[in-house]
Amino acid sequence: MDLIKKELIIQRYANVAELAEADQRLLEEAKQALLTAYAPYSKFYVGCALLMENGKIIRGSNQENIAFPSGLCAERVAIFHAGSEYPDMPILAMAITVKATNFIVASPAMSCGACLQSISEYETRQQQQIRTILQGETGDIYIAEQGTLAFLPFQFKMEVLKR
Ligand code: THU
Repeated sequence: MDLIKKELIIQRYANVAELAEADQRLLEEAKQALLTAYAPYSKFYVGCALLMENGKIIRGSNQENIAFPSGLCAERVAIFHAGSEYPDMPILAMAITVKATNFIVASPAMSCGACLQSISEYETRQQQQIRTILQGETGDIYIAEQGTLAFLPFQFKMEVLKR
């Protein structure tokens, strides 16, 4: 028997001003993205901005549906857009932020498990982790250079052998 250990590293910043300018800009793009959220049921608006290798920004926001499970999170709206529009272009970084009608979200906006699973497969596919920048409406900012490995160290994947 041996142990499998994985180290999760997340940088925590108390102030946006401490971030590199490019990160501040990407977070700002995510804040713009949440303005297009369609979230009449949860009133929880999520914005996601992706920095592509060629410098292009792709935005996504959560899109809900009255048949609740039919909606989609901001992160998957963004990465699926990137995957369909630029299938061969690596995604370098992702910023995610949230805003709610009835309260202020003062802690970083973590992605749900289904989004992490989806993002992690894009990382595997492009053989490069996606630097992730997270902030609530206000409060600490988290940066994970490791991408989804910092949040979902064991994603579902199939490593298969030929039968
Ligand atoms: N949501 C996201 O957009 N991203 C996440 O990672 C978690 C949740 C959305 C889904 C739903 O529209 C609303 O937030 C409340 O769960």
